[in-house]
Amino acid sequence: MECISHDIVIIGAGLAGQAAALAASPHADTAVFSKVHPLRSHSTAAQGGINAPFGNVGEDDWRKHAFDTVKGSDYLADQDSVEVLCRNITSRIIDVDACGAIFDRQADGRLAQRPFGGGSFPRTCYAGDSTGHEILDTLHSQLIKNNVKVYSEWMVTSLVVEGNVCQGAVAMDLRSGERHLVRSKAVILATGGAGKAYERSTNSYPCTGDGISLAYRAGAAICDMEFVQFHPTTLLGTNILVSEAARGEGGILLNAQGERFMQRYAPKMMDLAPRDIVTRSIQTELEQGRGAGEQGDHVWLDLRALGQGVLLQKLPQIYKLAQDFLDLDAAEDLIPVQPAQHYTMGGVRTNNDGETSVQRLLACGECACVSVHGANRLGGNSLADTLVFGHLAGERAVALVRRGEMPIVDRRHLEEGERDIDALLGEGGDSTVDIRRRLERIMWRKVGVFRSGQDLEGALREIQELQARYASASVPDGSRTFNTQLMQAIELGFLLDTANMTALGASLRRESRGSHYRRDFPQRDDQGWLRHTMFRSVAGRLEVYYEPVRVTQYQPERRSY
Ligand code: FUM
Repeated sequence: MECISHDIVIIGAGLAGQAAALAASPHADTAVFSKVHPLRSHSTAAQGGINAPFGNVGEDDWRKHAFDTVKGSDYLADQDSVEVLCRNITSRIIDVDACGAIFDRQADGRLAQRPFGGGSFPRTCYAGDSTGHEILDTLHSQLIKNNVKVYSEWMVTSLVVEGNVCQGAVAMDLRSGERHLVRSKAVILATGGAGKAYERSTNSYPCTGDGISLAYRAGAAICDMEFVQFHPTTLLGTNILVSEAARGEGGILLNAQGERFMQRYAPKMMDLAPRDIVTRSIQTELEQGRGAGEQGDHVWLDLRALGQGVLLQKLPQIYKLAQDFLDLDAAEDLIPVQPAQHYTMGGVRTNNDGETSVQRLLACGECACVSVHGANRLGGNSLADTLVFGHLAGERAVALVRRGEMPIVDRRHLEEGERDIDALLGEGGDSTVDIRRRLERIMWRKVGVFRSGQDLEGALREIQELQARYASASVPDGSRTFNTQLMQAIELGFLLDTANMTALGASLRRESRGSHYRRDFPQRDDQGWLRHTMFRSVAGRLEVYYEPVRVTQYQPERRSY
């Protein structure tokens, strides 16, 4: 089998991976591996916008952005990292703008900025409600211009690590089924989140926690996996995202009685309180019998006051989604929405330059935990994170490879990688489809918006049973070409790793903070729990330990909106 070599290998071609590639490729031989064509990466689904304190509407600055982010995170974010995010994001957006991204603008030509949840100023820049798509398209054009080598429809199945130094990866060409040894001087993980462990999720199919699991199996430290974001407004049934921008532009939430219920939960910010609060408010309405529809399983998003003109100009995707999936006219009809999993706040622990606890292994974007989002990410900060920390990881990788030789990689890594993949092929094993469905149900029902010790311990037991079943599971389709059954079976292994960490971290954390709400411990407890949960694999066993949160300027205080 051919051995592939590049100075820097980036795994994942969403915004973080592409930002890293663009920072690295002018200085080092850089290649990107992606399970899907780069333009099909999940970043394309980001709708509402990207936060940057330009101050085009009001007297905003990076400090105010930083404070909102720290408060939004329920004080779990590392504040020096938040400062890096908020100081750097305006330059990154100026770069993307200069490369041709078509952002919406004010009449005076400056970038338009809309209000988003938890922000004290309208600071979310946007391209209608397809902001991720617009930026991804722009960066992808630059990748082509810079001749960055992209291995599209290749899946990385394991990392090559010797003596705590990353030397490359084992990757499978999905078209041919061939497995290859990839050697490199540095690897950057940028694979996105792990949302597909949940029955209800806005995430697209590739979001199966690959990078987090790969790093965990390679011995890297993983952080804060119990913090899972649930977006308050997703389309009833399909759980396609209905952007917070809809509320930023003036949409309101109503319960079955037509009541504007957010006034009871967040009297000042109402529908634009941070996501954890709006999600819990909706879930409470549903649980207390004020949900709409025969099943009482949704509330209404009312966009009628915006009128068709504004909807088509500022929220055209949402207008179309309501039409295509529910046959509704958002200018005249109420839109049924319900919460669903949206974002993985935890991930591979990194420093501000993207370095992990494994040398020459870096991570950025949703699969990483720097941590700037802490216990609850603000809407619009995810795209900001991808551009800032993707760029910094790319720069750091360049510095690392300048001081390193291309490793000589032992072929046993390929043999071991192939053996693990082949173990999943065959007749008569347990059903990976059944294991996946059960996992999704457990995560949604027991590790969801509201949690309890009893549910979490039950979830942990069941996930561990599923892990045992996975060990004897197999896929009957033995074909090599685009064997999507095999790909999904490998992804299931990744999801079981990430779900296990999520349930374990949540069962151990006996407090409520941000997205992690324990009915049996409803208060935040800074004495006991102002700390990060850390996970690592020691001789194949999951170990948990804790690290302090880095506080610079903002002392934790009560969070009210
Ligand atoms: O609601 C949204 O448009 C999502 C934005 C985000 O997750 O940052």
